[in-house]
Amino acid sequence: MKVATKKMALGQFFTKNNFWLQKHILKFIESAKADTAVDPFAGGGDLLSVAKSIGFKKIIGFDIDESLSWKINDSLFSIPQIKNSIIITNPPYLTNYSAKRKGIYENVAKYFVTCHYDDLYQLAIEKCLENDFGVMIIPETFINSSFPKNRLVSITIIEDQLFFDTETPVCVICFDGKNKLYDEIEIYKKDVLLGNLGHFERMRKVPQKNVFMKFNAPTGQIALRAVDTTNPMRPISFMRTDEIDYDVANIKHSSRLITVIELNIKDNLIEELIKLSNELLTDFRGKSNDVLLSPFKGNKKNGERRRRLDYATARAILESAYEMINPQPQLFNLR
Ligand SMILES: C[S@@+](CC[C@H](N)C(=O)[O-])C[C@H]1O[C@@H](n2cnc3c(N)ncnc32)[C@H](O)[C@@H]1O
Repeated sequence: MKVATKKMALGQFFTKNNFWLQKHILKFIESAKADTAVDPFAGGGDLLSVAKSIGFKKIIGFDIDESLSWKINDSLFSIPQIKNSIIITNPPYLTNYSAKRKGIYENVAKYFVTCHYDDLYQLAIEKCLENDFGVMIIPETFINSSFPKNRLVSITIIEDQLFFDTETPVCVICFDGKNKLYDEIEIYKKDVLLGNLGHFERMRKVPQKNVFMKFNAPTGQIALRAVDTTNPMRPISFMRTDEIDYDVANIKHSSRLITVIELNIKDNLIEELIKLSNELLTDFRGKSNDVLLSPFKGNKKNGERRRRLDYATARAILESAYEMINPQPQLFNLR
């Protein structure tokens, strides 16, 4: 296998910075009272070096790459159980879609056919959960995924760059052997506790589809720049179609970053709808600390993570603004 292919197929991006080891994560590791730290996807051994530095006398690494000096094990099939251990790892990340796009699917097909996940990191979590305790650095998109999260103790969003060779937005999950309610799972950004997972899940905006709206319709009246720019003053926003600095003729059915939306609305109400939608979006982002918006590669100039607004949430926001402008007739109970 060529070096570049191997790097992609095995997800060989090593964790070179320690910003992931926030105080509450260290506390969690200590609370496990494990005597061995295990990295089933050990790579350059950087996480095991951290484990040593925080006091683990015994460390065990596995990897599938024979050119590394670890015991060979295919940890996406199974991880040897080590008594009284905690897993500390950063597994490979690779979506089914990008494996196909990069022409390396044949290298990883054997994993995708065994599971229903669309990214290898999720299969890695499933295997690691066979251990009682673990800390895993994984893509932040995990938060918006449907992967069951009941075993988690916390999710920590890390905005600082952990890697030299990829900007994939990541978070750290800590898990133990107990099943929990989502209200018992803590969400942190760096070292700041934002709330619990249940609280954030209840804030999700779900579209009612009760108002006609067509996304990616170049002749529509409202444009949406659905991604934060690197300038904190130019966040995701709704605007009139003629205000967007983009040739809307290029918008395709698959456009996910910039769109134009067609609605049934009188021309004189468009400005108000845009203003209200932007206010609702700002309010939602503030209250949810951006936890529910998809992470986007590359931070803003102020170090915060850029975000993308998915079209379901955008639709829900536009629907709420629309209903504020066109209130439904009151239904009176005549009994
Ligand atoms: C993202 S790197 C992380 C390495 C290390 N944990 C770190 O954080 O620096 C993932 C590692 O998993 C290894 N790997 C990929 N697929 C594997 C598999 N099926 N079983 C075991 N190791 C695998 C790769 O060779 C690579 O070294």
